[in-house]
Parts: sequence; C-alpha cells; structure tokens
Amino acid sequence: MNLTPEEQEMLDGKYGKATQKSMEILTTLGDIFDAEDMVEVTGVQIAGVSYANLGEAGLEWLTEMAEDGNVRVLTTLNPAGMDRENWQALGIDKEFAKNQNRAIEAFAKMGIITTCSCTPYLIGNAPHFGQHLAWAESSAVCYSNSVIGARTNREGGPSALASALTGKTPRYGYHLDKNRHGQVLVKVNAPVKGTDEFGVLGKIIGDKLFELGKNIPYITGIASASVEELKSFSASVATYGGTALFHMEAITPEYKMYPKPNEIIFEINQNNLDITRNELIDENIEIDFVSIGCPHASIHEIAKIAKLLEGKKVKKEFWITTARPTKKIADEAGYSKVIEDAGAKFAADTCCVVAPIKGRFKGIMVDSAKACYYGRAKNKFKVKIGTIEECIQEAIK
Ligand code: F3S
Repeated sequence: MNLTPEEQEMLDGKYGKATQKSMEILTTLGDIFDAEDMVEVTGVQIAGVSYANLGEAGLEWLTEMAEDGNVRVLTTLNPAGMDRENWQALGIDKEFAKNQNRAIEAFAKMGIITTCSCTPYLIGNAPHFGQHLAWAESSAVCYSNSVIGARTNREGGPSALASALTGKTPRYGYHLDKNRHGQVLVKVNAPVKGTDEFGVLGKIIGDKLFELGKNIPYITGIASASVEELKSFSASVATYGGTALFHMEAITPEYKMYPKPNEIIFEINQNNLDITRNELIDENIEIDFVSIGCPHASIHEIAKIAKLLEGKKVKKEFWITTARPTKKIADEAGYSKVIEDAGAKFAADTCCVVAPIKGRFKGIMVDSAKACYYGRAKNKFKVKIGTIEECIQEAIK
C-alpha cells in the first residue's frame, strides 16, 4: 500500500503502541483487499461492546490498547449488555455489570464517546453525503451508506477501533464508486408502511440477495419512507442478506448516480409480504415480553409510544430500548414519565438482543424483523412481529 509519511510513522511506532498496532491491522486489511492507499475517516462506530461478546480476552485487548491509545476522530459505541444506570431493574447480575463497566471505562479512556447506541446517526455521530467512515454496526452501516450516502465497509470491532486511533481506513469496497452500483432490480408492487412492514420487506429482499449471491438491491415502487422505516429496513436487509448498501428510487441519494440494473429483476407483491410476515410469527407463542426499539427508538417513536400508553398499565415485561441522549430528551418532554407510569421500562444503552437475557422469557413481541431473527437464534425465544400499536395492545391486555 502507498502510505503517507505520517501513516508510515504510525506503523513505525512514532505515535505509540496502540497506534502502531492499529496501523498494522489496517495495512494487513488493505493488503488482503488490494487497497492502494488509506482514506481519512470522519467518524467511527464500534460494535462488540457487550461484555457477553467481548469476554475476558476482548477486555484484555481493549485494556492494552487503552494504555496509550487516543482516538483521532469522533467515535461512538454500539449497545452494551446493560442499561448503565438502570441495570438492576432489568435483572442484570452484579458480576456482569462490573465487567461491562470495566469495558466501557477502557473505551472512555481512549476518548470514545460512550453513548452505546446502534443509531449513532440519530445522536450526533451524523455523517453527510460522501464522507468516509469506519462503522461496525450492520444496521447503521446499511443506513449510512444507503440513506445518507456516506461510505463505509462493514467493519469488525478491532478494525473499527484501529480506524478510531489512526483516523484512517484502507480504501476498498464501499469506499469506491465502482463497488456501489445496484446489482438486482427489485420492483415492489404493494404499499409498504410501518417499521414492522419495512422489516418484512427487508427480510424478503435480504433472503433473495443471499440466495442469488448478490449484495446491492435497487428498489422501485416505494412511495415514501420515514427515518424510522428506513432504519428498520436497513437493519432487516443487513441481517437477512448481509447487505451494506441499497438504492431506493426517489428516496436514497445515490439512486441516479449509477445505471439501473436490468439483468436480474425480482418482483414483490402483497402475497409475498403476507407470507413473510407469517414466517415471523411462531406458532403457539406465549408472549411474556414486549420490546420496541430495534434499531434504537427515535424520539419520534418514543412520543408515539407515550401517546399510546397514556393512562394505561402494561401487564407484561415491556422494554423501550434507546440511546441515553434520546432518553434524556424523552425525560425533558415528559414522555418518560407517561411510559414509566404505565409500568413500561426504558432500557437505554442496551437492547433485547445484546442484554444477557437468554431463556428468561418464553415469547417476545417486537416491531422489528431483525429482533425476530436474533430473538430466535440467540435468545431462544418464540417471536411475533407486529406494528407498534399491536405491540402495545399485547403489552396491556
Ligand atoms: Fe440495535 Fe440491538 Fe437491534 S444493537 S439493531 S437494537 S439488535
């Protein structure tokens, strides 16, 4: 790879051990993917924050990097394994909390903002069109590439941290125009509305791309989509198809930049949506847990939940998972009081997938196709998808 004099000095150890290790990781990656040089990143998002994922080995590595590592660009964290203030109320044990805090302290020591959210773009780590990033949360990667038009590969935890400590990433993959062209034309011939239905659509498209061995869909037929619907779609298509970039006609910013694909065409009608929705509803489910906020709930979603819960009481464990800064806005706006008076709980900094709750509940109801996937695969729950309104009906009945 062609390195600038400063990058070479990083590699030679002039800026300390953590920076040197980081540059070693990045140049190795660059060599594997034939990158010609490095590109400067304006932001980093680090995943693999939960102690359940890190374990002692991961924590040891972080502690070592934190000895002399300092971030050079704005860097935020993915959800941790617990609400950092309210972990006891959510049934997290003391030992786990202690270890989770050790990990977060190591991140903080390096200058990372410990907001712990999968929606950094809603809380200030907000790139603009064309900026290069090193993000490591699949839903946020897909959202930033597609909806914002920023450029990032799907980083792993170590490579994202390496980019944070150097401000660089190797220029390959989605950083290059030639890798951002749509490959499959998807014609949606049915109205799609709501976070749940955009998640169902993401599963159909993700499953098909996986089957075809393709990565980038060009989607037509969507009349409009809100930020919340696009974040749900991004999470779902990334989960089921490994997708990091989609184009949506008249909605995403790059849809006109590259030729519309015309070799592989795939159509989706109402029947496909209905069948796939049913695949996300397990038979004989006994729901004892409801969770909204995958990806993390926006203030708009929290306002809607507060309105629907006003004057009601929930009868099941009910979590709203969100970023702490969003929770603070909800506190100030009075939404949190309405929600908590109804008996629902905020789970800030974490979510129903990364918290260590495997086997604690029998059945979970969510509005997220991604949460259905991991609810089954990771936490061994039965799952049911529904609209936000249906989730709340279930919680209060
Ligand atoms: Fe975020 Fe957890 Fe869903 S990290 S995308 S809320 S699985």
